[in-house]
Amino acid sequence: MNLKKLLAGSALVTGLALFSAAAVAEESVEVLHWWTSGGEAAALNVLKQNLEKEGVTWQDMPVAGGGGEQAMTAVRARVTAGNPPTAVQMLGFDITDWAKQGVVADLNDLAAKEGWDKVVPAALQAFSKYDGKWVAAPVNVHSTNWVWANKKVFDDLGIAQPTTWDELIAALDKIKAAGLTAVAHGGQPWQEATIFDAVVMSTGGPDFYKKAFIDLDPAALNSPTMVEAFDRMAKLRSYVDDNFSGRDWNLASAMVIEGKAGVQFMGDWAKGEFLNAGKVPGQDFLCFRFPGTQGTVTFNSDQFVMFKVGDDRKAAQEKLASAIMAPAFQVAFNKVKGSVPARTDVDGSDLDACGQQGMKDLAEASEKGTLFGSMAHGHAAPAAVKVATYDVITAHFNGEMDSKTAAEELAKAVAAAQ
Ligand code: GAL
Repeated sequence: MNLKKLLAGSALVTGLALFSAAAVAEESVEVLHWWTSGGEAAALNVLKQNLEKEGVTWQDMPVAGGGGEQAMTAVRARVTAGNPPTAVQMLGFDITDWAKQGVVADLNDLAAKEGWDKVVPAALQAFSKYDGKWVAAPVNVHSTNWVWANKKVFDDLGIAQPTTWDELIAALDKIKAAGLTAVAHGGQPWQEATIFDAVVMSTGGPDFYKKAFIDLDPAALNSPTMVEAFDRMAKLRSYVDDNFSGRDWNLASAMVIEGKAGVQFMGDWAKGEFLNAGKVPGQDFLCFRFPGTQGTVTFNSDQFVMFKVGDDRKAAQEKLASAIMAPAFQVAFNKVKGSVPARTDVDGSDLDACGQQGMKDLAEASEKGTLFGSMAHGHAAPAAVKVATYDVITAHFNGEMDSKTAAEELAKAVAAAQ
């Protein structure tokens, strides 16, 4: 080899080395999500920091709006433009809908290497996988049938944790009579639907919840039990303050945190707000199942769907998926978020009292067959049906129709959306 060739070769090698160093330094993921409240952002930070330790830069794409409806609109725009983010926070049937479009990545090699099949429960795999392929990494399990109460308010008024509908109403009456807002509520359709999950379960029990929300049985949707569930929603409406309309859920949590309100009916992401405000379960606030739903769990699981991206972005995408599934991360993240780990093989003994109860309830409900997907959070029926229920629940909550009409409209709306 002559000198010229040798020099050219070594320049090429040096060039390649420089190129790959730059590629490593520039590895980045763009993540679309709706975790913009204080508690949510704190939890997401755990993931950002873990990835940054691995040399992966985090490009944040937050789309505010609890429950993720606005975020889903943003995803549609990006995918339609042929420029999907690396990963998107998503719920249940939305994942399946995108997988059907053929635009999501195939994570099977990574899943096999890391043994995801053995550690993720079937109820979550039903959404993480499509057509035998892993397309999403589940980060948690939340549930919607919780009550978050200010402990001092309960103690001062001598209120014991209610376990039945009648006890709940008696407790709310006491709080209202004391001049406080009994129910801290944010008047947004998804928040009303979140309460409805619990009210339907409490009113009709697990078989009814399944018939109405999972099987979408018209006879259950338009039934005397459903009318009663709507009546109960109207009753709860009488305990909210005058300014509830449009309020974000985390501001409703703040009313309970500050002792201005007694309770909030919300999924366990609310706990993230209490913790972020420095509050301690059992000491400053109470968590208990919505009265009448003990022994049942209406769940939702946040998953990060990986979209098909160019080869230059695949390595960082796999690092993200792997970081989400890491056992230590699942515990660290869920401690902050209020949810429980998506993996069944991690040690949850480190979680606080509400987290421990969440894990125990989940395991028991799964065992007993009383674990069901949340309608409000996309795990009972496809998005079109979910949104159709939102419209009826909210119209009724705002007094636009009586309970009997609401049950009729619910059955019609669900049928039309399928
Ligand atoms: C849920 C989501 C939670 C929480 C909540 C409010 O749909 O699963 O993680 O963030 O919305 O934004």
